[in-house]
Amino acid sequence: MSNSDITPSTFLRNLNHGTHHKLADFLDPVDTWKRILVDIQNKSTGQPRYTQLHFRRFEGLMAKGKSPTVELLYDWGTANATVGELVDLLVKHKLFGPADLLLPDMVSSRPVEAVTGLVGLCQKKVALESRPRPEESVDPGFSRFSYHELMKITGNWDDRPTSMGGNKLGEGGFGIVYKGCLNNTHVAVKKLNMMDDISPDELQIQFNQEIQTLMVLEHENLVNMVGFSCDTEHPCLVYAYMPNGSLLDRLACLDNTPPLSWHRRYIIAVGTAKGLEYLHSNHHVHRDVKSANILLDEKLVSKISDFGLTRASAKRTSTTVMTEKVVGTTAYMAPEALRGEITPKSDIYSFGVVLLEIISGLPPVDEERKPKFLMEVKDEIEDEEMELEDLVDKKMDSVDLSSVEKIFGLACHCLNDKKGKRPSMEEVLRVLKDDVIVD
Ligand SMILES: Nc1ncnc2c1ncn2[C@@H]1O[C@H](COP(=O)(O)OP(=O)(O)OP(=O)(O)O)[C@@H](O)[C@H]1O
Ligand SMILES: [Mg+2]
Repeated sequence: MSNSDITPSTFLRNLNHGTHHKLADFLDPVDTWKRILVDIQNKSTGQPRYTQLHFRRFEGLMAKGKSPTVELLYDWGTANATVGELVDLLVKHKLFGPADLLLPDMVSSRPVEAVTGLVGLCQKKVALESRPRPEESVDPGFSRFSYHELMKITGNWDDRPTSMGGNKLGEGGFGIVYKGCLNNTHVAVKKLNMMDDISPDELQIQFNQEIQTLMVLEHENLVNMVGFSCDTEHPCLVYAYMPNGSLLDRLACLDNTPPLSWHRRYIIAVGTAKGLEYLHSNHHVHRDVKSANILLDEKLVSKISDFGLTRASAKRTSTTVMTEKVVGTTAYMAPEALRGEITPKSDIYSFGVVLLEIISGLPPVDEERKPKFLMEVKDEIEDEEMELEDLVDKKMDSVDLSSVEKIFGLACHCLNDKKGKRPSMEEVLRVLKDDVIVD
């Protein structure tokens, strides 16, 4: 069944796997599915369908790596539950992304002048938000901007690099990131492109996921989101500005920045591990862990970015595998992630590559280098074809070799081809915090 065939009376059990999994992308993170679960009623008695016991059962399934949302939809589906009933609950909880995925024309009427689904969705959100709403669902720190406002604060999207007086901070798979100034505070504005390989619908899903995810996830090692705009075909995300750019650029000493000390690198590794541990403990897989997505604030504290933009993009990864962009990403991908399997253990693998970057200061992939992929130095060192000391970044003044050995050992553990043999993020943190005093 294609999404356009879905009506309110469609039985949940008749939705295809793809739709179940797309819903899971929205509802698995931060236990959102629990909010739906507690509101599900038994049709005949009007009593809650699920008890604490059921609750634990779903949690138990989650511990086995299964999606609680998929399991819940399956179970509820056996009671002849319909899409209409699910959408009612989603809207009640302001979960417009998944509601819109199921019944794009029903959640509210789409404005005629809407250029893309995004516009419709955001206007819908405005309409719904103007209704009385429960206090706990209001997010005070979040702003909605207009495209025009963001254009003004970024020098009309000045594409020259900031080092040359322009506003461009960088460019990634989804668009260009600009520096702007809002009420005397610097921000980073990511202007998302409409891309050939992503339909407006998919982009809309990703955009909503990013926003919904960022709204609920909060940790000192995650980048702060300030707001968004979605009144044109270029939706924008506004983040706190990270003055020290990305770990990738700082390891490469781009723009002649001084090399990071070993001590600083260690602290960055710990911060990143804490951020990832937080994501994983909230049942969220990042899927694009890499040094370009580890940003550094004014005190060089690491802040993970872009947990959200890649969530619904399995298609994007496979369709763009041949482009330069995804070769970069491939350099971080676990064997099972390359096959499209997504688990927290693939983030652990990618984190292993980041640890090798931290030790060596080398980029994760270099066409001219042998080996081309940094992850391959693990085998070279383990097979004694290379010394660990040769890998250590010569740009660092003094290095505590025993602590380098420990981090290298940890990287190798994370880079195990068998996902079951990799450590959990909790274990990673335990090892990292073991000996070095982190300030
Ligand atoms: N909040 C921010 N503060 C400062 N610089 C930023 C911020 N966000 C992004 N950047 C800069 O913009 C660059 C591009 O970011 P972007 O997320 O678009 O691409 P990427 O991380 O290289 O790839 P991907 O699209 O896979 O995330 C980053 O590498 C970083 O240098
Ligand atoms: Mg990024």
